[in-house]
Amino acid sequence: MPEARPLTFLCITTYEKGQEFMRECKRQGCSVILLTAEKLRDADWPRETLSDTFYLPAEIPVADIVKAVTHLARNHKLDRIVALDEYDMETAATLREHLRIPGMGLTTMRYFRDKLAMRMRALDRHVRVPDFVPVVNHDDIRYYLEHVPGPWVLKPRQEASAIGIKKIAAADELWPVLEQLGDKQSSYLLERFVPGEVYHVDSVVSENEVVFTNVSKYGKPPMNVAQGGGVFTSYTVPRGSDADSGLRAINRDLIAALGLVRGVAHAEFIQAHADGNFYFLECAARVGGAYINEMVEAATGINLWREWARIEIAGGDGSYQLPPLREEYAGVIVSLARQEDPDTSAYNDPEVHLRIKKHHHAGLVLKSADPRKIPSLLENYARRFAEEFTAVEPPRDKPTA
Ligand SMILES: Nc1ncnc2c1ncn2[C@@H]1O[C@H](COP(=O)(O)OP(=O)(O)O)[C@@H](O)[C@H]1O
Ligand SMILES: [Mg+2]
Repeated sequence: MPEARPLTFLCITTYEKGQEFMRECKRQGCSVILLTAEKLRDADWPRETLSDTFYLPAEIPVADIVKAVTHLARNHKLDRIVALDEYDMETAATLREHLRIPGMGLTTMRYFRDKLAMRMRALDRHVRVPDFVPVVNHDDIRYYLEHVPGPWVLKPRQEASAIGIKKIAAADELWPVLEQLGDKQSSYLLERFVPGEVYHVDSVVSENEVVFTNVSKYGKPPMNVAQGGGVFTSYTVPRGSDADSGLRAINRDLIAALGLVRGVAHAEFIQAHADGNFYFLECAARVGGAYINEMVEAATGINLWREWARIEIAGGDGSYQLPPLREEYAGVIVSLARQEDPDTSAYNDPEVHLRIKKHHHAGLVLKSADPRKIPSLLENYARRFAEEFTAVEPPRDKPTA
């Protein structure tokens, strides 16, 4: 049966994001229902775009959300269900399966939510990953510790923002940690710590084909920023460089391996100091956080939220086309700030493209036609940010924003 238009979207998010996704749906004539958290009742939602908004209490079980949305579906014909943030992907996939709505199902969702699942699948399809072991069978773990040199990292299978990642320097440090985790230990995986530079590849995927790719490099590895405190930076890698072409190829293989049919992906890789190879770290089927979207848009003109919305609307009917793009360079710098509303006006080089306005944060998006301009400017700004703004937050064990 052909789809009746206009389509109705149910967008789910427990974080304040995705406004541009919802706006684009509306611009394209769709109707948008937002399902979000009670605590975000007063958030900056694009209200003029939404036909209805529902608020859920914190910690509500998925089964109850299924009941509520199924009830809603009696009177609203839902055509698409989209999770705008990482933590709602399971809810969205469960709802799609229950209501038999097209889109990513639970099995594929796991490849983007569970770091063990994505590693096992990547390895199986010959994408290089740091040597790892599931935290399940203790003989396997002992064998791994004897054969794979440390240090290692013990990391939660389903977290983000380097939350809960613990570096393990020696084999006998691991067992007490596992003991303490008890039944929770299998929600972690153990892998080799690979010293190196961390890159991220942000892409747009339409009908299994990667149609847009932007390769960027973090100034400092995200773990150092998250756990050591400091200034987050990232910038576009020179197009046509070894890193750019190497990562584009690996990312294509990865997206095929993980089976993303349509949407956006944010994948991360470490280039090992030891051998120069790229090791796959993680891949999410969503827009990257930390103003990566703004950075990608500054460099290319492509807004990832907007393209994602357009791809979801097309839904495989073959009508999606990537708009023309620019190949310029951009960077982003963000820091937690001591000041409530930090003043960044002293950062006034012509490359400053956008000033990030967020409570207790200082941030800028930079743009230039010259690939060399941005990294050196970011280095300089990061030093000044650290003195003028940076507030050090103790490492988190729970997600915040
Ligand atoms: N195997 C590893 N070797 C070296 N650094 C790592 C490794 N795994 C994670 N890290 C560091 O921790 C950060 C977060 O890890 P990642 O797997 O991307 O999880 P998250 O979902 O928390 O971002 C990485 O960006 C990197 O700095
Ligand atoms: Mg990461």
